[in-house]
Amino acid sequence: MTDQSRKILVGVAWPYVNGEKHIGQIAGAYLPPDIFARYQRMAGNDVLMVSGSDTHGTPITLQAEKEGIPPAAVVEKYHKLFVEGCVAMGLTFDLYTHTDTQNHWEVTQQLFLRHLENGYIYQDTQKQWYDGQSGRFLADRYVEGTCPFCGFTDARGDQCDNCGRIYDALELKNPRSKITGNTNLEVRETEHFFLDLGKLNEPLSQWVETGKEHWRPNVINFTKGQLALKELRGRPITRDIDWGVTIPLPGFEGKRIYVWYDAVIGYLSAAIEWGKLTDSDAWREWWDADINPDALIYNFIGKDNIPFHTVIWPGMLMAYNDGEGGEKFNLPYDVPANEYLNFRGMQFSTSRGNVIGFNSVLREFQADAWRYALTAVAPENSDSEFTWPDFVERINNELVANWGNLANRMLGFAYKRFDGVVPTPGELDQADTDLLDEVKYGFKSVGALYNAARFKPALQEIRRLSQRVNQYLNEKAPWQSIKTDPAAAATSVYVALQAIDWLKTLWSPILPHSSEALHSYLGYPDPLFGCQYTEEVEDARGTHLVLRYDHSGASGHWQAGTLPPGQTLKEPQPLFIKLDPAEVLGEEAA
Ligand code: MF3
Ligand code: ZN
Repeated sequence: MTDQSRKILVGVAWPYVNGEKHIGQIAGAYLPPDIFARYQRMAGNDVLMVSGSDTHGTPITLQAEKEGIPPAAVVEKYHKLFVEGCVAMGLTFDLYTHTDTQNHWEVTQQLFLRHLENGYIYQDTQKQWYDGQSGRFLADRYVEGTCPFCGFTDARGDQCDNCGRIYDALELKNPRSKITGNTNLEVRETEHFFLDLGKLNEPLSQWVETGKEHWRPNVINFTKGQLALKELRGRPITRDIDWGVTIPLPGFEGKRIYVWYDAVIGYLSAAIEWGKLTDSDAWREWWDADINPDALIYNFIGKDNIPFHTVIWPGMLMAYNDGEGGEKFNLPYDVPANEYLNFRGMQFSTSRGNVIGFNSVLREFQADAWRYALTAVAPENSDSEFTWPDFVERINNELVANWGNLANRMLGFAYKRFDGVVPTPGELDQADTDLLDEVKYGFKSVGALYNAARFKPALQEIRRLSQRVNQYLNEKAPWQSIKTDPAAAATSVYVALQAIDWLKTLWSPILPHSSEALHSYLGYPDPLFGCQYTEEVEDARGTHLVLRYDHSGASGHWQAGTLPPGQTLKEPQPLFIKLDPAEVLGEEAA
C-alpha cells in the first residue's frame, strides 16, 4: 500500500432474495460498485466491499406463501442463485453474506438496545390496517393502495414505487389486503417500537448541507427536498410478523424488527463478520471514527433506496453515536444511486413478466459483454432503456470492433511475425510519442472518472483512446512496412502493444475477465486480479454460504509500467465472441 492509501468501504445494497434478480438491478446497484472497488484496489487503496442477501420482511414471506415453502427455504434457494450470479459476473465482494446469521442478529440487537439507551427508541401504540378476513395485521407489502403523495394506484404499504416516497401505511388511500383482496380494512391498535427520527431533522439537515458537493444531483436533490419538509418523526421499527430479527426485550415474542431497520445495519455487521472470518479487529479501520475518521464509506444503490441511505441510515448512525462513551461510527461519504434501467418503455417487473434475468443472461453471453453493455447504458443521471438491438450493436460494433479486434489483431501479428516476443523498438517518432502520451494520460483522466463513480463517461473515454490506437495503426500499417522496413514495423508494433497494455489496465475494472486474459497473452506472469471463492460458515443460526475475494497476489496495477521488449507472448485467443444478431434478436420474440 502506498502512503496515500485510503480505507474505502464499498457498501452494496442488500438484495431481497425473493426471486432471480434482473439486469436492471445489476446495472443499478451491483455492477457499479464492483467497477469502483476494482479500480480503488488497483489504485492502491484498501477496499472492503461488503453486502449480503436481505432475508427478512414481507418480500420474503409473500414469496414463501406464493411458493408454498417456508421463508427459510426461499432465502436459501435465491441466496444461492444470487451468489452464483455474482461469481459468473465477477463481483468481487470481500464478503457477501446474508442477514439471517447469528452475527447480524446480534449486531442489530445491540444497535436496537443502544438506540433505546440513547433515547432514540420509544414504545407506543400504533394504529395499523387489520384484515378481518385473514385475522392479520397487514405489515408493509401486505397492504396496497393509492399513494398519498402522487396518486399512484399500486403503491405498497412501505413505499411508493412511482415517486419513491416513504410513509405510514395508514396514509394510503383505498387500501386493500394483498392476502384476501379485502377492501374493507379496519384500523386496530398494536404495540410497537419507534425510532425517534423527529429528533434528527436538524442534525440531518446540517449534515446534508455540508461537504456534499460530490453527491449526484438526483441524490442530493431528493434528500434535501425530504429534509426541507422537517417532517421526520417517530417511525415504527417493529412489525406484527413472525419472520425477522427478534426484539431483545421480554414481552415481544410475537413481533419482529422491521426489515429496513436491520438491513441497513448489514453494512456494519458484514464488516464485523468479515473481521471474524479473517480473525481481526481491522473492520474498525473503516467504521470506527475514533480510529479512522478519514475512511470513506460509499453506498451503491438504486434510486428507490435513496431515503433509507441518505436519511434513515445516517440518522440511525447519529442516534447510535449520540450517547455517553462507546464507539462512534463513520457516516456515509457518498451514495451514488442510479436511476432505473427500463425495458420496453417501463420498469423491469417480475410480476408483469417484463424481465431479463441476471442468471439466465450469464448462461448465454460472456460476463464482460454484459459488463460492457450495462455500463454503456448505465442510468447514472436519468432513466435509460435496455434494448436487444442496442445490445448487439454495442457488443459487435463497439466492444469487438473497437477494442477486441485491436487487441487480437496486434497480439496475433506480434506473436506470428516477431517470434512470439514483444518486439524491440527503434527510435520513436512524433506520432509514436503522441500516441503514448495520450493513452498514458488516461491513467489520470479515466482514473478520476472511476474515482468519481462516473463509469459511463469512463467507458467513453477509454473507447476514444482505443480508437486512437486504431487510427495510429491505420497510419503506420506495420503489416505493410514489415515487408519493406522491418525495423519500422517493429517500432510501430511495440508502440501499439504498449498502448494496448495500458488500455488493458484502463479497461480492466469494467472488463476484468478479458483484461486478465490479455494480461497473460502479453506475457505477464502475475495476475491483474485476485480470486473469488465461496465458503460455508457455521454459526448458532445454522450454516450459511458466503462469497469472498482474495486479492493478496494482485496490487498496484494502476500505473503506466513499461512493457518489456523481448517479453515472451502467449498465443492469443479472441477476447470476445461476436454476437449473431439473428440469434440474439430471437430473444426479444421469446
Ligand atoms: N432489500 C432492499 C431492496 O432490495 C435493499 C436493501 S439495501 C440495504 O430494495 F442495504 F439498505 F439493506
Ligand atoms: Zn407516490
